[in-house]
Order: sequence, then C-alpha cells, then structure tokens
Amino acid sequence: MPPDPPAKPPSARSPATHDPAPGIVADGIAAAPHPAVRRLSLYLRQLEAFEAQGRHTASSRDLGRALDLGDAQVRKDLANFGSFGQPGVGYRVAELIDHLRKILGTDRTWDVVLVGAGNIGRALLAYRRFAGKGFRLGAVFDTDPKLHGQSFSGTTVQPVERIPRVVRETKIRLAILAVPAEAAQRSAELLVDAGILGILNFAPVRLQVPAHVYVNSVDLAVQLEQIAFQVNETEKA
Ligand code: NAI
Repeated sequence: MPPDPPAKPPSARSPATHDPAPGIVADGIAAAPHPAVRRLSLYLRQLEAFEAQGRHTASSRDLGRALDLGDAQVRKDLANFGSFGQPGVGYRVAELIDHLRKILGTDRTWDVVLVGAGNIGRALLAYRRFAGKGFRLGAVFDTDPKLHGQSFSGTTVQPVERIPRVVRETKIRLAILAVPAEAAQRSAELLVDAGILGILNFAPVRLQVPAHVYVNSVDLAVQLEQIAFQVNETEKA
C-alpha cells in the first residue's frame, strides 16, 4: 500500500476565496486562530504606546485593560506564539515588541505595490507613517495615461503593463488595490500572476484568488454600519 500523503500543514488554506483567511503560520510556529493573529497587532500597538510612556514591563492585565480584553484572553493569545513573560514581572515591553514584530513579519521593511492612483491611492501615498510600521509603497501603477510619469509624494505612477516586470524584478510580495470595483478582479489576477502573495483590497468586491494568496479587504461602509448600529442601540436605550 502506498504511504499516506503527508498531512497538510495546519495553515493550508483550501478554498479559492478566503477573505479573511482562516489561519497563519510564521516560521514554523503552529497555526494560531486568526482572531488571535488580528489581536497581535493590537497588542503590538499597545506595547508601543507603553514603551512611548517609558514603561519597561506590562502584565497581561495591563494589556487587557487597555484593550478591553480579559487578561486570560491576552495570555492565551500570546501563548499561541511562544512563552513570553514571567510570573510576578509580566512581559518585558521591548522584548515582547520585538517578538511580535518578528511574528507579524514587520521586523523588516516590506515593499508594497499600489494599483490605482486615485483618491485613495494618493491618500495612501501621502501617508508617511507606513514606513515606521514596516511598509514602504515601492511602486504605483495606474491605467490612466494622464497619470503616467506624474509623481505623488515622491512615487512616480507607471503603466499597469509594467506590473509583471517590476514585481518579478523587485520580488515585492504585497499589493494594495485601490481601483474601481469593475477593474479589481482583473487587477488582482495580474498581480497574482506577477508573484504577489498578499493583497489589501479597497474595492467593494470579493476577489477570487488562488488558495496561496491572502486577501484582506477594507470596507469603511461596513465599519460605519457597525458604529451606526451601536449608536442606534445607545439612542434607543
Ligand atoms: P478613483 O476613481 O479616485 O481612483 C481609481 C484609480 O484607479 C484611477 O486613477 C483609475 O485611473 C485607476 N484605474 C482604473 N482601472 C484600473 C486598472 N485596471 N488598473 C490600475 N488602475 C486603474 O477611486 P477612489 O476613490 O480612489 O476609490 C478606489 C476604490 O476604492 C474604488 O473601488 C472605491 O469603490 C473603493 N473605495 C473603498 C472604500 C473603502 O472603505 N474600502 C472607501 C471609498 C472607496
């Protein structure tokens, strides 16, 4: 009898569309539940705030209180990624920041390509703080010939036909999609064919991508809906 095929790693993402993706693996660390990964960014932001306040240590309770989470939740989330912290001392802030950046992959600078140099694209290009968070918009592409050669916040718009070459040569793996809805799927395909592995999508469409590509969509209307619901409830009370 042939041997069993090797088991799929816990992070394997099977469906063709996954938004958000179900899991993540970092450097052989066992797959953690996706919400925990999302909270890692919150822990990181809070720890950076603690560090800016001059704090050297923080307990799970401190983190939980600041983020409106239970301390058990904080401990459980972080335990997914290793053993941090010491009883009676808590977490060493600087050390945990380093660990979280490593886990999230932001201990290095990621170049990102931007597709669509319209309102959103230009606003993102003008946002200087990405660099401090480990991201740099390395190239921007648009179909509008009037924009080609124009520079926004120091980055020159290139025709989309250059995407395959630029992505291949620079080995950029992340992209931001800020094109009209009807152009988004085609743009995503172009990016994926060029070698992009992660897309932050602003267009209001659910992208169909291969299983190895991670898509995260931003929808301000959904966020506003959530706030409207909460405010509605408050007004009713
Ligand atoms: P915009 O119309 O100002 O800019 C779109 C840009 O994409 C234009 O420069 C256009 O030439 C370019 N473009 C069109 N087809 C392209 C293609 N195939 N490849 C490359 N570039 C292409 O639009 P805006 O306001 O920047 O919005 C961008 C997207 O974001 C839209 O899909 C919009 O619906 C969405 N949006 C999302 C929000 C959110 O919360 N996620 C909020 C507001 C807008």
